[in-house]
This record gives sequence, structure tokens and C-alpha cells, in this order.
Amino acid sequence: MKLLEIRNLRTYFDTLDGIVKAVDGVSFDVDKGEIVAIVGETGCGKSVTARSIMRLLPKSAKISGEILLNGKNILKMSPKEMEKIRQKRISMIFQEPMTAFDPLYTIGQQFTEILQKHEKMSKAEAYEKSVQMLELVGIPEAKKRVDEYPHEFSGGMIQRAMIARALLNNPELVIADEPTTGLDVSIQAQIINVIADMQKKFKTSTILITHDMGVAAELADKIIVMYSGKIMERGDLGEIISSPLHPYTEGLIAAIPKLNTKKGEKLHAIPGMVPSPYALPKGCRFHPRCYAKMDKCEKKEPPYVEVLPGRFVACWKVLKEKGALLNHESPK
Ligand SMILES: Nc1ncnc2c1ncn2[C@@H]1O[C@H](COP(=O)(O)OP(=O)(O)OP(=O)(O)O)[C@@H](O)[C@H]1O
Ligand SMILES: [Mg+2]
Repeated sequence: MKLLEIRNLRTYFDTLDGIVKAVDGVSFDVDKGEIVAIVGETGCGKSVTARSIMRLLPKSAKISGEILLNGKNILKMSPKEMEKIRQKRISMIFQEPMTAFDPLYTIGQQFTEILQKHEKMSKAEAYEKSVQMLELVGIPEAKKRVDEYPHEFSGGMIQRAMIARALLNNPELVIADEPTTGLDVSIQAQIINVIADMQKKFKTSTILITHDMGVAAELADKIIVMYSGKIMERGDLGEIISSPLHPYTEGLIAAIPKLNTKKGEKLHAIPGMVPSPYALPKGCRFHPRCYAKMDKCEKKEPPYVEVLPGRFVACWKVLKEKGALLNHESPK
């Protein structure tokens, strides 16, 4: 069952230096109860995709396409309707947990307010639920800590509290934007476990945003690989990891640290840099960094094609190999 269907989403920013096509024709689905990871390097449009779904963008953003939640287009909803959906039906775990909490109120006060805004609950019930949620995400002495202020929490603990906050109202969809970035490696592993446990318990659909294919591989059912505002490849986790098709996906997988990687050993990195949004290369956006570049790649953007059931790729090399040219012209 599809919970979220995104069709040809474009989010452009009008800036003094020109138009930034942060998200440029992105389509994917999220089924009920599944974890979909969006993976890609910095600036590829992961957070803007998330913020487009939440409709949390500055006025300079022009959004088009469709974002259907249970068949209803979020992009057509009034600010009032959107206000009801945020936190209650779709909630977000932000990249910077400290900025998501108000420093002047205790965690318990903030949780209670959120709960009472969306559900009929007495203050005592909401307070009780706040303690329970903190316990669920593994915060020790939750009864005591619920009365503490955000700055009294460590980085790992505030991230747990952020996860608890996102789940307070039993939303259908949680969007976690880099939930482990900036945390120590051992704490990262704990947070990954908390997300996995919560997902099993509540069966919430989750969009997990990360630049780390290793984190995605531990949690996700499906993977979406983004580059410069476009999806390069999308498919089931097992298939993406065992047989990546797009050269960019191959590069991201090669960059996953292995257990036997020696300290200080340089990981296989993708050569070159992400292009500036003001100077996108012609043809395929990835071609200047691609080991498999053909002439065609410099001239014409590859279409996003379903080459196998549920497996979508935008790459001339793959299209040529798979012969899955459908109605598109063949590469020269
Ligand atoms: N408000 C804005 N105005 C203009 N450009 C913006 C705005 N917000 C984001 N962008 C641009 O949109 C592009 C995508 O940004 P986004 O934050 O989605 O990247 P990201 O994939 O989340 O990267 P990171 O891994 O660093 O978080 C970038 O080029 C960014 O500079
Ligand atoms: Mg981001």
C-alpha cells in the first residue's frame, strides 16, 4: 500500500545569482511501514526534498509536481490544513536537534504542549506519555530527565529525545534528516538501533536521509540515490548493494568503510566534486566524474527509466547494456 507518492517534484529557488534547481523532477513512492533512504553527497537536494514534503521552505522556493499523501496532494493544501498534518501525520527529525527544541522550556513541557495541540489529552496524561516515550527511546531515568532543559542533554540523548518527539503523535510518516551525522561512531550505532526498534514497534513509514550508504544499508528497505537534484538510481536495498547499476551508486558503495579498513586508510572516493547548482554540466550531471562516460553523456540527459521491476536508473550506459530503451532513442 502506497502512503506517499511523489511525482515529478521540482523545487527551484530564485536567487540573486540565478535559479537553483535544488530538486529537479524527482519521482518515488513510500509504502506503508517501509524505510526508504535518500542517499547522496552534500548539496544534492536531500533536505530540500524533505522540506518540500513538509512544506517548510522559504518564499523564494517554487514547488511543482505532486506529493500525494494517501492520494491527497499536499502541495494543494492550505497552510491551515498543512499545520494539522505536520507532527500529527508527518513529522521530522532534524539535522540539528538543538535548534528543534526551545531552550527556555523543559523537554516535558515541550512534549506536553505538542501532545495537547494534536490530541484530546489532559496535562497529566500528556506528561505521562512524554515520560513513556523518553523511556522507549532509551533515555535512562526518564522520570527525572523529562523535567530537564534541552541543554542538559548530551548530543546522543538530545537526538533520542528528537526521535521521541517525532513519534509522539503516532505519525504515518517520519522524515529523519541525517539523524546520526555529527555524533560519535558508537553513539551513531545506538541511534541507528533506536530508529530500527521504533520502526519495528510503530510500523511508521520512514524517509531516512543520509550521505552515508553504510547507514542506509543498515536501516533501509529501499534506496534512492540522488545527485545534483535528480534521482540517479532507485531500488530495493539488497539489489542496490549487491548489484549497483549507476556508476555513482557504485562509488557510494565503495566508500562504505569496511570492518577491515585500517585506521587512516583512504577510502575509495569518487573523484571530482559535486557541480555548482549555477553551472550544471550539459547532458548527464554526473558525466564529468564518471568512469564510464560516453559521448552521448556529455550531450543529452539520460531519461529515468524502470529497467527492471521496481528498479529505476538514469544512465546511458545502463540503458545501453539493459537494452531497456523503451520509447527513448538509443545511445550513439
Ligand atoms: N533557501 C535556499 N535558497 C537557495 N538555494 C538553496 C536554499 N536551500 C537550499 N539551497 C540549495 O539547494 C541545493 C540542495 O540543498 P540541500 O540542502 O537539499 O542539500 P543536501 O543534499 O541536504 O546536502 P547536505 O548533505 O549538505 O545536507 C544546494 O545547492 C543548496 O545550496
Ligand atoms: Mg541536508
